[in-house]
Parts: sequence; C-alpha cells; structure tokens
Amino acid sequence: MKIAVLADIHANLEALQTVLAHAKAQGVTKYVCLGDIVGYNANPHECMEIVRGLDLLGVVMGNHDAVACGRQSLFGFNPYAAMAAQWTREHLTDEEQTWLAGLPFKQDILIDQPLTRFTIVHASLNQPETWEYVFDSHQANLSMQFQWMPLCFIGHTHAPVAYERSLLETIAGNFDTLRFNPEHKYLINCGSVGQPRDRDPRAAYVTYDLDQGTIQLHRLPYDLTTAQTKIIQAGLPEYCATRLASGR
Ligand SMILES: [Fe+2]
Repeated sequence: MKIAVLADIHANLEALQTVLAHAKAQGVTKYVCLGDIVGYNANPHECMEIVRGLDLLGVVMGNHDAVACGRQSLFGFNPYAAMAAQWTREHLTDEEQTWLAGLPFKQDILIDQPLTRFTIVHASLNQPETWEYVFDSHQANLSMQFQWMPLCFIGHTHAPVAYERSLLETIAGNFDTLRFNPEHKYLINCGSVGQPRDRDPRAAYVTYDLDQGTIQLHRLPYDLTTAQTKIIQAGLPEYCATRLASGR
C-alpha cells in the first residue's frame, strides 16, 4: 500500500491537481492531509471539495484552517496572510467552515500492516494548537518528546526536511528517499503542495510505501501562471502570487 501525505495545499488548485495525478500514477490508494487546506491562494472551495473526496486515513487542522473557520483569531498572522484569511473565510460556506472547525489538531494512524503506526500534526506535537515552528533539531526534539509513534509527519514551515533521532542525537537532513532504521524515531516535514518556501517553486508532497518501508519526497512543476492569475483576479494580495514563483 502507498500513502500520499499532503501538507499546506493552501487553496492552490493547480498544484493539488498535479500532485494527485502524480500520486495516482505512483499507485497511491490512501491519503493523509496535514492541514492548511485553505489560505493564501484562490481556490479554497475547490481544494476542500477534492480533499474531502479522497480516501483519507486522517486529516488535521492547520492554523489557516483554524482562522478560516473562526476557531482561532488572526493573532500572529502577517498582513498578507491576514487579508487572505479574511478573503478565504468570506468564500467558504457555513458547511465547509463547520467541517474545518471539527478537525483534530493531531491524529494517530494505525494500520494493520508492519511499520504502519504514525502520527500526523500540522506544526508540532509540542502544544499543536499554538503552531510552534520546527526549523531545527532543537525544535524537532521538543516535538519528539511528545511523539509516541516511530514516525510523525508535519508541515507548517513549507520546507521539506527529515529529522532522525537515535539514542545519541537528532540529525536533520534533506531526503529524496528515506529508508527506516527501526531503532530510530522520525519526524518528517513533507513540504508544501501549494506554497513551497524552500526557494524551489515546485509543488512538494511525500509518498509512504508501507511494503518497502520507505518515504519518498516528490517535487513537481505545475501550472503556476494560472494559479497566479487567479490570485490577482480574486483581489488577493499580489505578494501571494509573486511568492509562488520564487518559492518563498
Ligand atoms: Fe501553511
């Protein structure tokens, strides 16, 4: 079985469609979503509809989802994010906001196969509802203190990275394909489908092959121009469009 892990879609329909077509071609049959389905980009309704139609093992709330459904305030949002969040809230139906409001902050996924216990959370297991960023091994360790499963997937920073913890240390590293050491613990940031910030504008997502025990990072070019045009036409901040091209 192959699982696709989707993080920080951020209402980018073109990126989401590209990722899902690729995942299907890879033999993915199940999905998990790490939150921030909405915010920043122009297709929150369409992206929500697609995500809700997937064969989901789990989906958790992101900070932009929390604001879009009124569960949390705009506190901590920069002006661009705040404007986009308000626009998003106005463009979601009551039913969609209710669905977002019901999402958990974290979720444990248990599947009846070897190596298939993992946790999903948007930001960090260290107080998930306060959206702590995991940018380094120290912050990864704080999250891993609350990680009971051998593996946890996170998003939030929009930059893919793998943290591997042994008895001695926690090491951060880039990854294309990662094979598990069963004695180590892993915290994997899956990057962002809809707004990458690692200076690579290509959409990012991860596949988890349960039979092989491997995790693979995928980077895919998508129709960025259409996504940008829609952002401008919608009246969203221009910066939301320009940053997509620079991957920041
Ligand atoms: Fe995000």
